[in-house]
Amino acid sequence: MPGLSIIGTGRYLPGRPYTNHDLARVLDTNDEWIRKRTGISQRHFCPEGLGASDLALVASEQALADARLGPADIDYILFNTMTPDNIFPGPGTMLGARLGCVGVPALDLRTQCAAMLFAFQVAESLLNSRSARRILIVGAEAHAAVMPWRDWDLLEGTREGRPSAEDWERATRERGWAVIFGDGAGAIVVERAERPEAGILAVDLHSDGRFAHQLCIPAGFRRAPSGQQTGILDSPFIHMDGRDVFKHAVTKLPRSVTDVCEKASISVNDIDWFVAHQANQRINESVCERLGVPPEKMPSNIDRCGNTSAATIPILLDEMRRDGRLREGQLVCLLALGAGFHWGSVLIRF
Ligand code: UT7
Repeated sequence: MPGLSIIGTGRYLPGRPYTNHDLARVLDTNDEWIRKRTGISQRHFCPEGLGASDLALVASEQALADARLGPADIDYILFNTMTPDNIFPGPGTMLGARLGCVGVPALDLRTQCAAMLFAFQVAESLLNSRSARRILIVGAEAHAAVMPWRDWDLLEGTREGRPSAEDWERATRERGWAVIFGDGAGAIVVERAERPEAGILAVDLHSDGRFAHQLCIPAGFRRAPSGQQTGILDSPFIHMDGRDVFKHAVTKLPRSVTDVCEKASISVNDIDWFVAHQANQRINESVCERLGVPPEKMPSNIDRCGNTSAATIPILLDEMRRDGRLREGQLVCLLALGAGFHWGSVLIRF
C-alpha cells in the first residue's frame, strides 16, 4: 500500500500578539492566573472584517510554495474549522476559489479541535483509493468573532479608559474560555508516497455526542416556538464546562495513545514526537505523566499562540518542520480532544 507523505507546510498568525495584560483591560483576569492555569502568555486575533478562510489562504500559499507546487497540482481540499466565515457555505470552497483551485473538491470537517486527526484519516483513504494524488489540509480559526468584549481599541490600548460596567461584567462572565482561545491557520500538503515506510501506521478515533453540551455554541437551525424570532443567533458565545472537559482530556487521551500503539504493535517509547492539541499546557503535562513520556517529547507553543482549536496541530507541525526538529523517518503521534466530543490519536511515520 502506498504511504502518505507531508511535502509542504505553512502557518499564519495574524497581526501582533495580545498579552494576558491586554486581556486584563477588558475583563477581570490577570497574567499570573492565565499563565499558571493554562501556560498561555499571548495569542493572536483575526483582524477586523476577516475570517478563517482569509487566514487559511496565507498559510496555504506558504504550504504550496514549500512543496514547490501550484494550485493546479492540488486535487482535494480538506478544511478544518469550528469558526467558519459563514454558516454556509463552508470555507473550503471559498479557499479553493481564492487559491485558484477552481473545481477542486473541498470538504469541510466539523470535528473542532480534533479535526486534524480526522483529516489525516480521510486524506489517507482518498490517496489509497486513488481519488486524489495531492491534498491540501488546512486548519484555521477566527475565534475573535465570538470574543465577549466589544471594544477592541481598549484591548489594544489605542484608547484610554475602561469598559462600561455592563461590558466588563459580560466579558468577565465568559473569562473561563475567553482567555484560552487565539486565532491562526496551519496548512499541510500531503501526497501519495511510494516510500512504503512513510504514512499512517494506526488510527484511534472516537466521537461521543453525550458530551456535546459541555463545549459548544448553542445556536443554530432549531425552529423557534411559534411567534418568536429564529434561534440561529440564540447564543453568540462559547459554552465550556472547563473542568469537565479537562477531566475528559486527561483520561481519554492517554488511553487513546496506548490503544493506537497497541494497534500498530509498537511501544509508546518508540514514538519520537507527541504532537498534541494545544488546549491547556496542564492537560499535556498530565498526559505525559500518565503515559510515562518525557515532556521534551511533547513540544508546545501554547505560550505564544494560545488555543487555536483546529489549527494547533498544523501550526506546531510547521514550526517543527521548519526548525529541523521534525525529520523524515521519525515516528509521530498526533493527539487531540475537542468539542463533540471528538478525540483520539494518529500514528504517522514521517
Ligand atoms: O480546545 C478545546 C478543549 N478545551 C479544553 O481542553 C479546556 C479544558 N479546561 C481548561 O483548560 C480549564 O478548565 C480552564 C483553563 C478553562 C479553567 O481552569 P480551571 O483551573 O479549571 O479553573 P476554574 O474554571 O475551576 O476556575 C477556578 C477559579 C474560579 O474562581 P473561584 O470560584 O475559585 O473563586 C474562577 O472564577 O478561577 C476563576 N477564573 C479566573 N480567574 C481569573 C476562571 N477563569 C479565570 C480567568 N482569570 N480567566
